[in-house]
Amino acid sequence: MSPDDIWKKLHLTQTASLRERAHPEFWHALSRLNLPEDRVPDLAKLDDTVQAAAGWRLVPVEGHVPEPEFFALLAARRFPVIRKLRPEGEVFYAREPDLWHDAFGHLPFLMNPMVARLYENFGHAGLRALRLAPRYLTHLSRFYWYTIEFGLIDDGAGPRIYGAGILPSPGETEHALSPRARRVRFDVSRVVERPYESGALQKVLYVVSSFEELEAEFTEWSQACLPGSYRAKPRPETSS
Ligand SMILES: [Fe+2]
Repeated sequence: MSPDDIWKKLHLTQTASLRERAHPEFWHALSRLNLPEDRVPDLAKLDDTVQAAAGWRLVPVEGHVPEPEFFALLAARRFPVIRKLRPEGEVFYAREPDLWHDAFGHLPFLMNPMVARLYENFGHAGLRALRLAPRYLTHLSRFYWYTIEFGLIDDGAGPRIYGAGILPSPGETEHALSPRARRVRFDVSRVVERPYESGALQKVLYVVSSFEELEAEFTEWSQACLPGSYRAKPRPETSS
């Protein structure tokens, strides 16, 4: 199977599986990102699209980015994108994040100004925590995990997916809205206290009612724990 075939298979599978399961904002953002359906995207072209529409730049990386660098990139509106695609033997379950995870899971929401601001403020909060309050790093990574990576949203139409750890993953997509996953109303005091396990299906998923609520919760929490870290100014909405 060529990398293009792997990409095409994942794209077909996930767009079908997510049809009723992903939040409409994901489809809106995905269409603005203009990700190819049948071949591995050209990162330079994707970078142009993201820069023009959202003011972010993409930074190709080889794999996991250490926390200080990751926070610094987000704070500067730069998103690290893993260059490598998963191998054929891991098409439906990749052991490590890869290009598919980043491009299909994370990049679409950079097109949403509110979520893009959240990424940026995670970066500022992370830099602040590293310098002044390392005890909050664990809390910050749990907040990120249970929202950006594994978040669900229920704005009245039932729970739907927005987390970048779920959207690209056939197994997590099927699991997240099934009776096997426990879906709990988002509560920041619980989220920051709950350890997570990577590499296993999530047992508990937290549900927000809107992206506005998510941003407000993060602003309030980060201003309380890491005062001075909330720096991103609201950006004008870009039209689609
Ligand atoms: Fe991720």
